[in-house]
Amino acid sequence: MKSSSIILKRILLGLSGVLLLALLSLGFAVSYTAGCVAGPPGERHGTGMQAIRYRCYGDPSVLRLETVDRPVPAADEVLVRVHAASINPLDWHFVRGEPYLMRLDSGLGRPDDPRVGVDFAGTVEAVGRSVTRFRVGDRVFGAADGAFGEYLTVRETRSVTRMPTEVTFAEAAAVPVAALTALQALRDKAGVKPGQKVLINGGSGGVGTYAIQIAKALGAEVTGVASTRNQDLMRSLGADHVIDYTRVKFTDGRQRYDAIIDNVGTESPLALRKVLTPDGVVVMVGSTDKGVWLGPLMAPLKAMVVAPFVTQRYEMILAAMNAADLDTLARMLADGQIRSSIDRRYPLAELPAGVAYLERGRARGKVVIDVIGEGK
Ligand SMILES: NC(=O)c1ccc[n+]([C@@H]2O[C@H](COP(=O)([O-])OP(=O)(O)OC[C@H]3O[C@@H](n4cnc5c(N)ncnc54)[C@H](OP(=O)(O)O)[C@@H]3O)[C@@H](O)[C@H]2O)c1
Repeated sequence: MKSSSIILKRILLGLSGVLLLALLSLGFAVSYTAGCVAGPPGERHGTGMQAIRYRCYGDPSVLRLETVDRPVPAADEVLVRVHAASINPLDWHFVRGEPYLMRLDSGLGRPDDPRVGVDFAGTVEAVGRSVTRFRVGDRVFGAADGAFGEYLTVRETRSVTRMPTEVTFAEAAAVPVAALTALQALRDKAGVKPGQKVLINGGSGGVGTYAIQIAKALGAEVTGVASTRNQDLMRSLGADHVIDYTRVKFTDGRQRYDAIIDNVGTESPLALRKVLTPDGVVVMVGSTDKGVWLGPLMAPLKAMVVAPFVTQRYEMILAAMNAADLDTLARMLADGQIRSSIDRRYPLAELPAGVAYLERGRARGKVVIDVIGEGK
């Protein structure tokens, strides 16, 4: 009897050792950062283009302007001449490869794909032979890999659509990731109805500036939360009430909200619950947590612990890039229901400065990159 319990203990000890070793190896593999490598020579056959590439993980200085081959559209793709692009926090997460867990997808040691940038607006330069939705010369905007470069290709059925005539390339390029996230958080995750009270925590950033306007368009009574200097910006976008987080905590207030769109993750799930109606919902969009291991995943993990014991819902969101929702946003831009609030603009060669600025977390609306001159 005694000897069998000793054997069991040894087996458990051995298994724990193996598990610990596996975790340590995984930790080492995902956190290892290899040095930069030179890219292949570009501009073969006179079809080169200027594009930003990153060939190792690191701070924004690893972003380099290179001459590379122009992409060639497949049968179901369009080739877009990019006029303007915009920066999202996801871009600096990819550049740094942080939180480390994302390297399981983006590449261990160094990035598998050196292209960077997602949001774009430009003109269709060429179409693949089976393309039916677009013609050469169409003004389009959307989300695709490699937006920080002069040309990109995107499947015609993916996240690309025509730009409304009312907006500039810069205004259209600001939209895709941030506004799709705001739309899907409010409409699909929170199910916002007219007359409901909605709070946007982080109402003055990329997602927040669109979220305030989309929540108003859905008929909600909207409260925006940001620092002192951004109170007027949120009011100008239509917020009915504004809260300055440097003076008061919205979680100490008496107001109850049907939905909270949380772009900053600064309040605990229990604190958020205090200001929700009994069947209210928090949509966890983003976080200011820059931890290299879990970072923005901490807020959803904490919410998972609380969720089974409360009546309110905690929803995670990973925005889906799709043409149908881009069409909805194009209509809202055309009708004047939403507009892009552009904070700063940088030429393509100065992308590292733009990414460093966004990374500081103080952008007022969107940061746009002019890929061709001034992306008007
Ligand atoms: N889940 C998804 O699919 C998805 C999609 C897009 C973005 N995201 C995430 O969502 C978050 C927001 O994205 P974004 O593009 O809006 O970022 P952003 O433009 O960089 O946000 C900057 C804004 O955040 C505000 N802010 C910073 N700390 C705040 C605080 N404690 N309370 C209230 N506001 C605060 C700043 O206002 P002040 O200067 O006034 O503080 C600033 O205007 C990021 O974490 C991003 O990674 C997630």
